[in-house]
Amino acid sequence: MGDRVLAVVLAAGESKRMNSAKSKVLHTIGNLPMISHVMAALAETGADQVALVVGRDAEPVIAAASSGALKITPFEQKERLGTGHAVLAARDEIEKDYDQILIAYGDGPLIEAPPLLEALEKVRSGFDVAVIGFHTDKPTGYGRLLAKDGELVAIREEKDATDAERQVTLCNSGLMAINGRKAAALLSKIANNNAKGEYYLTDIVEIIRSEGGKAATVEAPADIVAGCNNRAELAQLEAIWQNKRRHELMLSGVTMIAPETVFLSYDTKIGQDSTIEPNVIFGPGVTIESDVVIHAFSHLEGTYVASGATVGPFARLRPGTNLGAKAKVGNFCEVKNAEIGEGAKVSHLSYIGDATIGARANIGAGTITCNYDGFNKFQTRIGADAFVGSNSSLVAPVSIGDGALTASGSVITEDVPAGAAAFGRARQSTKEGYGTEIMARNKAWKESKKQ
Ligand code: UD1
Ligand code: CA
Repeated sequence: MGDRVLAVVLAAGESKRMNSAKSKVLHTIGNLPMISHVMAALAETGADQVALVVGRDAEPVIAAASSGALKITPFEQKERLGTGHAVLAARDEIEKDYDQILIAYGDGPLIEAPPLLEALEKVRSGFDVAVIGFHTDKPTGYGRLLAKDGELVAIREEKDATDAERQVTLCNSGLMAINGRKAAALLSKIANNNAKGEYYLTDIVEIIRSEGGKAATVEAPADIVAGCNNRAELAQLEAIWQNKRRHELMLSGVTMIAPETVFLSYDTKIGQDSTIEPNVIFGPGVTIESDVVIHAFSHLEGTYVASGATVGPFARLRPGTNLGAKAKVGNFCEVKNAEIGEGAKVSHLSYIGDATIGARANIGAGTITCNYDGFNKFQTRIGADAFVGSNSSLVAPVSIGDGALTASGSVITEDVPAGAAAFGRARQSTKEGYGTEIMARNKAWKESKKQ
């Protein structure tokens, strides 16, 4: 198909009902701005160019929309006079001889390519407009798609509808494809003589019909065309999106015991035969290879986990964590910007930050890398097969050689060569009988206070 397609994306809304300091389309689903989700779907339709209609927060909105592969030209809609007016803000681009114009909304992040492609195909086959509709048992607030003899004849906004028209449950998603050669002329004919005094894009259907043109309807599942007006709806869209991604991952070979408690990001990757226990959160930038177990209540972000590793329960893996094959990070451990070698173990209650740990090294319970002096960060290097005794404080910059050992309770401030043992603690002194004496004294003091 050599057709040239322009997508016009409306993102100029004030987002009043979000009660937010930033534009609605910058709020995220799966940790990715809604506008970026829309762009990803448009990229899949093969659109050649995007005209992005912006209002408030133009700069960050343009930046979020530009993160993908599509070429974007921003247009500013200076006043909010309705969806028809918003589309015409991009008139300069619309007039550039595209075959089809696709209209999408920046606040409909769940959109997928198939209905958009279907709408484009309808226009290609001779319809002047193809409107994407959906069925809902709660149509209040939506424009209704009015049909006669099986043909789309009008879109009626709720406020302008008769009682009979309000009974219609086939609603306007707002998404549509328009004949690119006629779009500019058709859009120019839209007026604002309606209940809201706005330029309604939806009037395009009646304009086309009045000129003897044809309008088509394409039906899409309500879930994927849902829009977001407030934070309650944002949470609903998030839930739909999370369910879909969990489902895809499970079908691809990932086990989730309680999938409804696992939260994914847009770029979360999990390999075959990995198990994700309940209440695990994946922030952005996480890749998990195969045969990994993430135990309950773990939080991962910016982390790579190689095959056969285990994490948690209650582990926090922060950006820059690179966990080697069959390595282990156990309960109540935090890891940041650290490479943990193949088969190495950080099993209990440790903080590992700005560090490299060699293969098979064992990091004892309660080990802390003291990586920060209040101003600067320093590296800790631990060699292969090293054994760090429990409750060691490793004051960076410091290195512990291959096969070296630190005694438990040590504060290690100097490098430990390969194969050495380092003791960084006070020597124990033991006094026979003195324990009994101290306890007797303490007991007597308590009794004396009672009188
Ligand atoms: C619109 C449709 C309605 C449809 C509904 C689906 C019209 C007249 N009505 O109604 O049939 O059922 O969407 O959600 O088109 N925008 C601008 N500039 C403007 C006005 C709107 O950029 O001047 C953007 C908004 O940011 C939003 C989108 O266009 O992303 C839709 O506008 P909105 O006011 O929410 O339209 P609805 O009344 O919901
Ligand atoms: Ca809306």
